[in-house]
Amino acid sequence: MRGGRGQERAITGNRQSNWAFADAYGAELVDDAENAALRWARERAQQAGVRAVSPATGATLRLLAATAGAKAVAEIGTGTGVSGIHLMAGMRPDGVLTTVDTDPEQQQFARQAFRAAGFAGNRARFIPGSALDVLPRLADRGYDLVFCDGDRSECLEYFAEALRLLRPGGLVCFEGVFANGRTVDAGAQPAEVRKLRELLGAVRESDDLVPSLLPVGDGLLCAVKRER
Ligand SMILES: C[S@@+](CC[C@H](N)C(=O)[O-])C[C@H]1O[C@@H](n2cnc3c(N)ncnc32)[C@H](O)[C@@H]1O
Repeated sequence: MRGGRGQERAITGNRQSNWAFADAYGAELVDDAENAALRWARERAQQAGVRAVSPATGATLRLLAATAGAKAVAEIGTGTGVSGIHLMAGMRPDGVLTTVDTDPEQQQFARQAFRAAGFAGNRARFIPGSALDVLPRLADRGYDLVFCDGDRSECLEYFAEALRLLRPGGLVCFEGVFANGRTVDAGAQPAEVRKLRELLGAVRESDDLVPSLLPVGDGLLCAVKRER
């Protein structure tokens, strides 16, 4: 017998080291300028208590932006720019990242990180403010990819906005849907985790989407909007 159950057990038994390997592999995929900028942005994030995407999640966002041939990406939750660097690196060279955050100080760090990574100033449009105030002002069907990494308790509202913002064939990604293991924990959970479970159900049930839950970082829920 080849592979089979024994192989599967070996893989799941090493899950933590596989995860660490995927992160280490992701970290090796970036060039020197990006690497230095990412390290700097991660340090700023740590100091500010902001959760930046993992290296493997960053590599996945880069891959997805490239697969979509993304020219316009909307990001909720700029943070200090870790995810933004990965998204811009995967987008077309003339692509523009529109990134929203309630905290202008974080956005200043992100601006510096993008510059240090070698991206021209016109590659990113920073919009300070609350996502639920800003998103309704963005264009219908104007985006190839919408990345949601803001306030998890607003994930259902981000989902509704993302469906409007995406062009047919575009994709939406939600970071952090595992909520550090709380999403699958049968114990009592806070409202934001219950919202994430609702989101997982809504994405799964939608006839308009082709979804997949990717086990990178803290869980990356992705879905492509079908072309009709
Ligand atoms: C998890 S961090 C984003 C990290 C970033 N995506 C990265 O990987 O570098 C979440 C960010 O969302 C911002 N945020 C929180 N609530 C928000 C809201 N309602 N609208 C927009 N941004 C929000 C926070 O200020 C914080 O910078």
